[in-house]
Amino acid sequence: MPHIFLYGPPGTGKSTIGKILARYLKLPLIDLDRLIEKNAGMPISLIIEQQGELMFRNFETSTLKALADETESVVALGGGALLRDENRLFVESHGKVILLIAKLETLLERLNQDSMKRPLLSDDLDGKLSSLLAKRYEHYASFTNQVYVDAKTSDQNALQIQIVLGRFHLSAMGEYDAIVRDHGVDQIGELLKSRGLHNPVIVTDENVAKFYAEKIMTSLRSADMDSHLFTIPAGEGYKTLDTVRQIWHAFLKTGLDRQGTVIALGGGVVGDIAGFAASTFVRGVSWVGIPTTLLAMVDASLGGKTGIDLSEGKNLIGSFYPPKLVLADLQALKSLPETELISGLAEVVKHGIISDPQLFNLCTRGLDWVKCNLEEIVKRAMAVKIKIIEEDPYERGFRATLNLGHTVGHAVELVSGFRLRHGEAVSIGMVAEAKLAERLTVAGKGLSEAICEPLSELGLPIHIPKELPREELIRAMRVDKKKSNGVIRFALPVEIGKVDLVDVADLEMALED
Ligand SMILES: NC(=O)c1ccc[n+]([C@@H]2O[C@H](COP(=O)([O-])OP(=O)(O)OC[C@H]3O[C@@H](n4cnc5c(N)ncnc54)[C@H](O)[C@@H]3O)[C@@H](O)[C@H]2O)c1
Repeated sequence: MPHIFLYGPPGTGKSTIGKILARYLKLPLIDLDRLIEKNAGMPISLIIEQQGELMFRNFETSTLKALADETESVVALGGGALLRDENRLFVESHGKVILLIAKLETLLERLNQDSMKRPLLSDDLDGKLSSLLAKRYEHYASFTNQVYVDAKTSDQNALQIQIVLGRFHLSAMGEYDAIVRDHGVDQIGELLKSRGLHNPVIVTDENVAKFYAEKIMTSLRSADMDSHLFTIPAGEGYKTLDTVRQIWHAFLKTGLDRQGTVIALGGGVVGDIAGFAASTFVRGVSWVGIPTTLLAMVDASLGGKTGIDLSEGKNLIGSFYPPKLVLADLQALKSLPETELISGLAEVVKHGIISDPQLFNLCTRGLDWVKCNLEEIVKRAMAVKIKIIEEDPYERGFRATLNLGHTVGHAVELVSGFRLRHGEAVSIGMVAEAKLAERLTVAGKGLSEAICEPLSELGLPIHIPKELPREELIRAMRVDKKKSNGVIRFALPVEIGKVDLVDVADLEMALED
């Protein structure tokens, strides 16, 4: 089983961060030094004192190699555990290594507070640590996945590691992993198998089917799974009860039962409708999301909201029904039309505004930069959504901040007859709502302008089209599900990185330019 190995100089917090990371990912933690001590029946200091450092390193190698038979775990390694080539070869072929790195001052501060004995650093901590770091400089620098742990809490560092790994576990509503993996669809058979998921029926749309259906069926076959494929027409216009009915009939034809699995392969429309069909068919079958648009990767596939539209409004019918796995394969973004990619970037900017100013700043670098750095963008944006839905899975409060831009956005999308894409409508909605926030003095002057900057850089629209009748937009906002006691609860930006929920009665104000 592939493990997650945490490595780095003494004092970087491998054990503490490892404990938190293991809890987040619902994996066991193995602290290699503690395991060596347990196996040897004595502390490391005594092994070194009685048998010498070479003997300790031999113990280290044999203990490490024995992990080949363990289930997937987070493994905190000793600070010199990978100095031996054979150890390094072993970990690199049995998982991923994350190097934790920090400034000398940070390490000294932490080690001085640490009650644990470090036999190789005793007597002269400052001098010995400095020379150890100098000696191992090239060694540590040679690891690709590095996380700087200075000035951050262990919790923040554990989150950063998840972003680097592209690996999250959600547990507030259902239990499932969300994984970002290049060429991940080639492993979907194994991923299903390892989760006890069987008899897959793939629901996809006509555009996505061309590129990925065969690939996924091949991967499923190689894991000894036969699958069925059902293709629906593409587009929001088909996120209807009529399409759900067709999907249910297709499920019946394939013989899908409660032991089976629905794979939703596609953008947010396919995810919403296939997830909803899965949640209602024979009172619920397992489903797996394979989002293929940027929007679906960073938003729609996460959080267990499934649903369909009515002619009166979007997503008016639906259920909370979490998937068993979300797999985002970055390769899918290669076939995605640029307009769809740009549409998805609106949700990325939104996540930046809600709680990740650094992500927001990355978006101001423009479309070309973003297109070359999609991996970082996807992982960071996913992390924002996951953090929010883990805190408030059923939208009793804080999760509603994710509706930023959506109250005006949904209305614009609907009244435009879906000529505007979801992300485009959200972009327009975010600007309109930022202006509303300024008018209500929820935000300071200039915020809407700041928000316009990355949106325009990325090629997103920022004005409500003049031809959309204002009365229809207001009517659409009133039907929106966020209405409570006649007022509409808006998620309004306060500053970049902070959003508040504010009740607004005068909806005209939200449409003023
Ligand atoms: N459930 C949630 O929490 C949630 C959150 C946000 C949005 N949504 C919903 O998501 C929907 C919008 O999702 P979307 O923007 O992904 O739209 P979409 O699913 O309609 O996909 C956009 C277009 O891209 C095509 N496509 C998808 N992946 C492709 C690929 N890899 N290569 C080539 N073409 C591809 C599709 O066929 C479609 O034509 C809306 O219905 C919205 O309400 C749901």
